[in-house]
Amino acid sequence: MTLTQLEQEIMRHFAAGAASSGDPAAMKAFLELRACLERGEVRAAQPDHASPTGWRVNAWVKQGILLGFRLGALENSNSGALSFVDKHTYPARLFTASDGVRVVPGGSSVRAGAYVARGVVCMPPMYINTGAWVDEGTMVDSHALVGSCAQIGKRVHLSAAAQIGGVLEPVNASPVIIEDDVLVGGNCGVYEGTLVRKGAVLAAGAILTRGTPLFDLVKGEVLRAGPETPLIVPENAVVVPGARAIGKGNGQEWGLSLYAPAIVKYRDDKTDLSTTLEELLR
Ligand SMILES: CC(C)(COP(=O)(O)OP(=O)(O)OC[C@H]1O[C@@H](n2cnc3c(N)ncnc32)[C@H](O)[C@@H]1OP(=O)(O)O)[C@@H](O)C(=O)NCCC(=O)NCCS
Repeated sequence: MTLTQLEQEIMRHFAAGAASSGDPAAMKAFLELRACLERGEVRAAQPDHASPTGWRVNAWVKQGILLGFRLGALENSNSGALSFVDKHTYPARLFTASDGVRVVPGGSSVRAGAYVARGVVCMPPMYINTGAWVDEGTMVDSHALVGSCAQIGKRVHLSAAAQIGGVLEPVNASPVIIEDDVLVGGNCGVYEGTLVRKGAVLAAGAILTRGTPLFDLVKGEVLRAGPETPLIVPENAVVVPGARAIGKGNGQEWGLSLYAPAIVKYRDDKTDLSTTLEELLR
């Protein structure tokens, strides 16, 4: 099946609703898509210079992933004394040494339908959900989550407890995108389609969502998501968690502040030094 045929098949079975359950052709198309996702041949979102954000969402791929949940039946699996129950269409991915991905034992799981490139290091416990793309040389540190369909570039460091939100529905919604050479610090949360451009640094504890204004102290601008665009962290921006005083009403009277992430600088030699982390572990 060519990719165009696969796209048509997926869209057809997705549109068929409940009628696709039990249809062997629907399962065949889904399994083909899942294999393509795992080989990195198709992605939930991909770079596209013609698009305003530089990224295009492949809604049909997300439809195919949702189709897999519809077609899946609960099945038991176990490992040692542990037992699990999940949709049979999304078992844990099995790796061998020839895949070139290092998965350290202990509570980690990569779900079927995720692409994990060679040279990725997964420290336990961590989780990569279906439809996610994790590119070469990236570190997924302990307690990090890569949500469904999230796109993670090359040489990204997802530090301990970094949470990268997933999005499956609506199918045309852009997933979180973390471009090449980004450092996502410990305990960061990046959600709701936020796009983090190349080389940016999120200091430990920064949280970004569609509704979070991002204060660029260097350029004197406030960056926000638009009706059609996500919150975009500019290339090489260094974002730290901050606070801003509430200027009206009870908040002002009570002396409260709201969380306010700020771009304090753009990456320089000192940042490069601060972000040279655990190279030896790779
Ligand atoms: C952002 C980071 C990389 C520092 O980058 P840097 O370029 O060296 O930053 P600088 O030290 O030049 O700081 C620039 C400004 O931001 C402030 N700043 C830096 N890090 C900050 C932080 N985490 N929170 C709040 N403010 C911070 C500094 O005080 C400085 O402001 P000032 O000039 O008014 O004092 C570092 O703070 C960080 O968060 N590293 C990630 C740590 C981590 O999560 N490790 C994971 C291990 S698993």
